Amino acid sequence: MRSIFRDFTYDYFGILSYPKERWFDFWTSYREKHPRVLEEYMFKNNLDEEELSLSLDKLERREIDRLSHYWEIQGPIEKSRVLKELGKMSPQLHLEREDFVIHILGALGRQQHLIVPTSRGNVVMIDLLFCWKEGSIKDFSSVILAALKDFLEYSRVNVRHTMDSGKRSERFDLILDVIEREIKGRSFKEKMAMISKLLDKYVDYYNWTGFYLVNEERSLVLGPYVGEPTEHVKIAFGSGICGQAAETKKVFLVPDVSKENNYLSCSSKTKAEIVLPLIVDGKVIGELDIDSHFQNSFDRLDEEFLEKVCGLLIAS
Ligand code: SME
Repeated sequence: MRSIFRDFTYDYFGILSYPKERWFDFWTSYREKHPRVLEEYMFKNNLDEEELSLSLDKLERREIDRLSHYWEIQGPIEKSRVLKELGKMSPQLHLEREDFVIHILGALGRQQHLIVPTSRGNVVMIDLLFCWKEGSIKDFSSVILAALKDFLEYSRVNVRHTMDSGKRSERFDLILDVIEREIKGRSFKEKMAMISKLLDKYVDYYNWTGFYLVNEERSLVLGPYVGEPTEHVKIAFGSGICGQAAETKKVFLVPDVSKENNYLSCSSKTKAEIVLPLIVDGKVIGELDIDSHFQNSFDRLDEEFLEKVCGLLIAS
């Protein structure tokens, strides 16, 4: 049990030895120490280098300094408390398999925890700055417990591209239940944001998930999304995969984007794409767009699943 919990905040507090104008350099070296986790953190928060720079500018040295003093004293106490509680709870949480490790880090204070699948297993990352700003650091056991509950849900429903179709189909059904539950009572925009988030979180080969909405000029305007920021914030009907799907009102499943002539590239990492138009009363009102970093990653199962997702969005 002991090995599942690691405190790397020492690396984070290294920021305090840099002058503020060099915090970007600090972040670069910090990222070299925790590449996978911090890359995912930036990705999940739609941060490119420019956004990162702005975010670092907004951080306050005084705040991080206070946090570092607090954690120096309280950290060891909180950690031993958490370990004791985890030990007690492990049977009910089914934590014996130890297929994850908790990393306490500091980041930009944007989210309390983040699940990061890596080649060596899953990392549940805690952003101590978020906990500090939100006050949840005072109840650190609850922070860890919430992260672990989320991880258990993730393990139950996540879809990996290596799974066979039977398993994927089973898991897609579970994700549909989660989506239905999570979008209830929310506005249309919130529903789109939630769906983008859940699809990105639970399907490992959905690497950019988002919506475009049709405006009065019959153009597609970028809506909520999760992934790398894109320059294609407005797309004309007929242009690119998105524009073609909107014009023809048909699903576009592209196994290999490099073979497409009419394609708008968002990232060199994208290898495949699927776009589903959202049709209400025979009219296209928007679309769901998903990019994958793997060629041939979408099949009929994905299409059926995503059609149901769009159905849930429109019907509710
Ligand atoms: N590739 C799309 C543009 C949108 S990005 O994938 C987010 C297209 O060809 O229309």
